[in-house]
Amino acid sequence: MIRSVVQGCGSYLPERVVTNADLAKTMDTSDEWIQQRTGIRQRHIAADGELTSHLALKASERALAHAGLKASDLDLIVLATATPDETFPATATRVQAALGMTGGAAFDVQAVCAGFVYGLSVADSLIKTGLASTALVIGAETFSRILDWNDRGTCVLFGDGAGAVVLRAEEGKGTTADRGVLANALHSDGRQHDILYVDGGPSSTQTTGFLRMEGKEVFKHAVVNMAAVVGEVLAKAGFETKDIDWLVPHQANKRIIDSTGRKLGLPPERVVVTVDRHANTSAASIPLALDAAVKDGRIKKNDLLLLEGIGGGLAWGASLVRW
Ligand code: UT7
Repeated sequence: MIRSVVQGCGSYLPERVVTNADLAKTMDTSDEWIQQRTGIRQRHIAADGELTSHLALKASERALAHAGLKASDLDLIVLATATPDETFPATATRVQAALGMTGGAAFDVQAVCAGFVYGLSVADSLIKTGLASTALVIGAETFSRILDWNDRGTCVLFGDGAGAVVLRAEEGKGTTADRGVLANALHSDGRQHDILYVDGGPSSTQTTGFLRMEGKEVFKHAVVNMAAVVGEVLAKAGFETKDIDWLVPHQANKRIIDSTGRKLGLPPERVVVTVDRHANTSAASIPLALDAAVKDGRIKKNDLLLLEGIGGGLAWGASLVRW
């Protein structure tokens, strides 16, 4: 049985760090409020002229180097983003050109904060069906560009960044001991549009628009849907919660992460948290967290990882990966 095995990972954060105290200088907020409600202490913000594709490129170069592969080895790029450089073409094609990759296919996936899990599932499916053999899956965002900096209820929550993994087709035994992506579960519910969306777009307003969110409503759905999808993906692969080595969740809010960890019965040391340093970087948050825990030595070869995320749509999903 063909498995999509992770060969390497990488990430990139813009240089500029904006702390909660920095924000409190220009708006009616406080470090205490932000930390208590979300666990966020700081976020990285892209420089003028630094685009999603630039962040994605740097993360991709690092992932390829970590994998010991070259751009010419790739035959697929799936880039998850809700903040593309342009309406079209896909930002993935900008990355493809910048990497010097001339063959294969490159396209974007749009599932906002669930984007990385969606992108991983799409790439895994294309590898398993033989349409691709070596894939770069990227989550990259410049959410600072779609924030209403006069809305303190949303602008303090997000940051910019990118993360990437390289997947390669390998023959597995078809057992739970195989390395690679072992199961995926994806969901969306378009009826929940109004609780998290951007109030602009090429077809509606011909403007980019700003992020709008009813935080409390999103919070409620996040807690319920994360618990359900995590149970679903574990059952699909024949695992129990005790088998999980690491929970690598979407980093929106420390309270949502803690709630999912508690429901799984995982001790906090087994949950990767970067929301304090990165804030919510949407599709980039999972690969950023993953890369941090791989590079500091916590995540090791053969560990069982549970990735999960939810965002606008609503769209949500989970993946089980043996590293
Ligand atoms: O990645 C996509 C998924 N997104 C999420 O998972 C986000 C989920 N939601 C949340 O994380 C939380 O709902 C928030 C962190 C966004 C907000 O926390 P909350 O406990 O739901 O607060 P709230 O929006 O109900 O606001 C409580 C109070 C309000 O004041 P009053 O009406 O009680 O006087 C707000 O005006 O806090 C006020 N407030 C702030 N105060 C200081 C809102 N934003 C701020 C702020 N600084 N930045």
